[in-house]
Amino acid sequence: VVHSKRSIWTKSDVALSLPERSPSSHKGDHGKGLIVGGSFSMPGAVSMTASACIYSGAGLLTTALPASILSIVSNSVPETMFLPLPEKNGYIAGEVMGTDFTFGHYDAVAAGPGLGRERGGKQLIRKLLAEVKTPLLFDADALYYLPELKQEMKQREEPVIVTPHAGEMARLADVSIQEVNKHRFSISKEFARAYNCYVVLKGPYTIVTSPEGEQSINPTGNEALARGGTGDILTGIALGFMLQHRDVFSALCNAVYIHGLTADLALQKGFTATSMASSDLIHQLPLAFRTI
Ligand code: APR
Ligand code: MG
Repeated sequence: VVHSKRSIWTKSDVALSLPERSPSSHKGDHGKGLIVGGSFSMPGAVSMTASACIYSGAGLLTTALPASILSIVSNSVPETMFLPLPEKNGYIAGEVMGTDFTFGHYDAVAAGPGLGRERGGKQLIRKLLAEVKTPLLFDADALYYLPELKQEMKQREEPVIVTPHAGEMARLADVSIQEVNKHRFSISKEFARAYNCYVVLKGPYTIVTSPEGEQSINPTGNEALARGGTGDILTGIALGFMLQHRDVFSALCNAVYIHGLTADLALQKGFTATSMASSDLIHQLPLAFRTI
């Protein structure tokens, strides 16, 4: 049995690996990111991802979404540019997306928040797997399609990242949620190795696993995070960090750390675990960055 490294990701790990912004920097130095998601029933998910990505330092951000929700998202996140996609009944229609545009022009891509589970989603995810030649993160409903696209995932040379909660991990690994909760380390490691991907298994003490099986445990966060939307925010931070960090593993560990730390600091700044909204967290992100 090979025992690979397993350790807690500490504040000094963050301080050592979080990129600095040089006084002479230019937006091009901070990466060009793409978020893919959103639907008529969940425009807020993709708005929160985009906003969190901006607050995490991304240089330029584009959001690909169903054309009909563009103005809603644009009103809440004026900083993002858009790639309006064909849609059917308010969901991205992957089945009618041709070769007239490509997802290949970005430094990192995150897909899934607010996507929904319509039939066209599978073709959308397949197109992303084929065209994105940089780190590609799947969260939320994007994970729903992956069990049918495992071959395409394994064949990719560039990093794939999945960010499941326990229920999503159970579906990916084809085990029960009880099994996931009992064997969080081994299930994420087996999946990471089998599908050559990074796994961020969320929940209290989130575990980040590399394709080689290195694992780190996150010490920050609290029950204020147990509400819809906080996962979408983590995806935005992770995308922002992948655009700027030299390696994917530290980008993911730092994203999980800062996300949890923000929730911890929010409780010191007047919010309570019960009384706050997910979007409040986005505006508290600077507090966490300040302490590093
Ligand atoms: N302590 C610490 N961290 C927590 C806690 C807790 N008690 N509860 C949740 N978190 C963190 C997780 O680690 C993760 O980073 O909050 C985030 C929650 O992410 P998701 O579970 O993805 O939640 P979100 O996507 O925002 O909520 C809607 O519900 O059923 C699902 O699939 C559906 O993805 C959709 C989600
Ligand atoms: Mg989620």
